[in-house]
Amino acid sequence: MTAIKGILLAGGTGSRLYPLTSVVTKQMLPVYDKPLLYYPLATLMLAGIREILVISTPEDQPNYQRLLGDGGQLGLSLSYAVQTQPNGIAEALLIGQSFLAGNRVMLILGDNIFFGHGLQPILHAARENTDGATIFAYWVPDPQRFGVVDLDEDGNPTAISEKPENPRSHYAVTGLYFYDHRACEIAAGLKPSARGELEITDINRRYLELGDLSVHRLQRGFAWLDAGTPDALLDAANYVATLERRQGLKIGCIEEIAWRAGWINAGDLERLAAPIKHVDYGRYLLSLLAE
Ligand code: TTP
Repeated sequence: MTAIKGILLAGGTGSRLYPLTSVVTKQMLPVYDKPLLYYPLATLMLAGIREILVISTPEDQPNYQRLLGDGGQLGLSLSYAVQTQPNGIAEALLIGQSFLAGNRVMLILGDNIFFGHGLQPILHAARENTDGATIFAYWVPDPQRFGVVDLDEDGNPTAISEKPENPRSHYAVTGLYFYDHRACEIAAGLKPSARGELEITDINRRYLELGDLSVHRLQRGFAWLDAGTPDALLDAANYVATLERRQGLKIGCIEEIAWRAGWINAGDLERLAAPIKHVDYGRYLLSLLAE
């Protein structure tokens, strides 16, 4: 059986956030108490994925390396690759081809935040599906802005389109994709779309044509946030702040996830907390050890 590896796609231009993103990449912007990137990284970790490729622009790569290093401090193995131009999300599968080396992949976009009760079992079910692709659909009021999937009465996909003018469904495709070993080969056969991008929707459509696309509908009570515009970024920060203050638990805390998974021990967590023990985040990490 093939293994599964992770790709965190964190390049792009972030033009809808200018001037915030004139010199800082979107994924490094704060979402309340941590960089945006922590949330999708946490989602990969919650799926139990430890071998991860971080793809970014050439300019941003050194900063990602300064922030996350080789991942060993979190019990992860992180490697890095660059996307020289924002040529589309599907290009991640070409850039990551040698890293994946024929294995399956969980691909997540660097600006996507997932939160909700029962997320972990959903992720584990998707990673155990060794044949085909699994994507996640989320009801939105404005599907024109997204990849949209049409579903039949049983929830099976019947069509998929990118930013349709007249969407037939309200189900947006989120920025989280599980693919079997065929994804790189499918990506290699893609042609750029009218907007000049290698479209992830074309990959998903190919799996649909092959009869190998599963769509999981995220139910009411799940939050799917992308931090692509000033309002979305602020909403995400307020959402995280409200939940964290109310529950006293952090969302997207990669150190906590690594510790709870047993990938690092109490001493490791203490060492991560030590340099920041005078701020809330560090105190939180230390409070976990007192549980
Ligand atoms: P988008 O929001 O589609 O693009 P963007 O981040 O460049 O922002 P804007 O539209 O405001 O210019 O990207 C979604 C995520 O995917 C985001 O985390 C960046 C990443 N991405 C890449 O890394 N490379 C790409 O070629 C594209 C299209 C996106």
